[in-house]
Amino acid sequence: MKKIKVVELFAGVGGFRIGLNNASNKYDVVWSNQWEPATKSQEASDVYIKQFGEKNHSNKDIAKVTTKEIPEHNLLVGGFPCQDYSVAKSLSKSKGISGKKGVLWWEIHRILKDSKSRPEFVLLENVDRLLTSPASQRGRDFAIILASLSDLGYAVEWRIINAAEYGMPQRRRRVFIMGYHKNTPIYEKIKKIDSKNWVFDEGTFSEAFNIDKSKNRNTNNFNLKGDLISVSNNFNKKGESSPFQNAGVMIERDIFTSKVFPNYVGKQTTIKDILLREKDVPENFFIDKNSLERWEYLKGAKKEKRFNKKRNFSYVYAEGSMIFPDKLNYPSRTIITGEGGSSPSRFKHVVKTESGRLRRLTPLELERLNMFPDNHTDGCTDIKRAFFMGNALVVGVVEKIGKALVSKLDN
Ligand SMILES: C[S@@+](CC[C@H](N)C(=O)[O-])C[C@H]1O[C@@H](n2cnc3c(N)ncnc32)[C@H](O)[C@@H]1O
Repeated sequence: MKKIKVVELFAGVGGFRIGLNNASNKYDVVWSNQWEPATKSQEASDVYIKQFGEKNHSNKDIAKVTTKEIPEHNLLVGGFPCQDYSVAKSLSKSKGISGKKGVLWWEIHRILKDSKSRPEFVLLENVDRLLTSPASQRGRDFAIILASLSDLGYAVEWRIINAAEYGMPQRRRRVFIMGYHKNTPIYEKIKKIDSKNWVFDEGTFSEAFNIDKSKNRNTNNFNLKGDLISVSNNFNKKGESSPFQNAGVMIERDIFTSKVFPNYVGKQTTIKDILLREKDVPENFFIDKNSLERWEYLKGAKKEKRFNKKRNFSYVYAEGSMIFPDKLNYPSRTIITGEGGSSPSRFKHVVKTESGRLRRLTPLELERLNMFPDNHTDGCTDIKRAFFMGNALVVGVVEKIGKALVSKLDN
């Protein structure tokens, strides 16, 4: 059985690795990298090492990793931040282009570009906002990613997936981007087939996440013209809405994109399914009487006069109410990095227990909402563990994509 050698970038606590391992024993992570720029301590990397071993794990800034250090691989995966991807002509190399320093997309690009043999497949994850940013040139950043992947020889499909729409316990919308190098049979297949068919029927994402074919909207075909600098400078200059819908495919710069709708029949996992019994929840997760008023205020609707001291002006601040406590028979809202800690917050999850007490979710429950193994991040503070889950992904989504890719390779 041929192994699919995987390199995991921006590994965090290993969501891609767990998902791929769940999908098939064909996946073999041969190298991983995780480095947290904001802190001296490197707890995400520590968790990764604790769970998967030290071998072939790198804990340094990816910008400082040379491509020689990265072993040959078939699949490159990573969840990277949504940043400004604009490019300018490099001053030092008159022929080259350069993205802004610290922009991690360009590190992925460098690794693909310089690797001895380009990996056959690339699987990336990002926030859905990537398809519409920046506000001044909607869709430009994604256009740059597509154009540069095309120039490196990849056909690309993408899809925004909300995990909860496919039965998983958390509403988390993320864009998944899959590239197929031109030396793969899948690339050839995409070239031959009608793009609409690929997106709706034949593609890896539609195999993993069924689409309601009776509905489609805002279908769009266009060709991404020009070099990267011209895409960066000119894409959607008129300030129109982004041409990229929640699903699409690009081959040799020809793009087909359409708004698609999920079609899922099956069990819906809800918050209730992942909760610990009340007696197993440590006391510090319960909301005490003194802070209840503050929680209610933050969660509630408000319209109030506020004053901005810095800019010296007053304004009316208004926001609607959040559901408080969270409904147990629904999937959860998205976990954000600030989910941990006892201080009252508008966005932290709060549930009502069997006996009617209000409490926050424990790190173990947050892991379950991301479909991680129980206690994967055990050993770190509760605040850190919640932070990791706010950064991570719903493992079940990667698992389904991983299975669909293996089935494509087997056929
Ligand atoms: C969105 S998170 C990915 C989380 C991961 N998919 C998981 O399941 O835990 C991005 C990760 O990239 C890491 N990171 C940020 N800048 C980095 C850099 N310059 N080099 C390496 N890793 C970096 C962050 O620490 C963070 O863990």
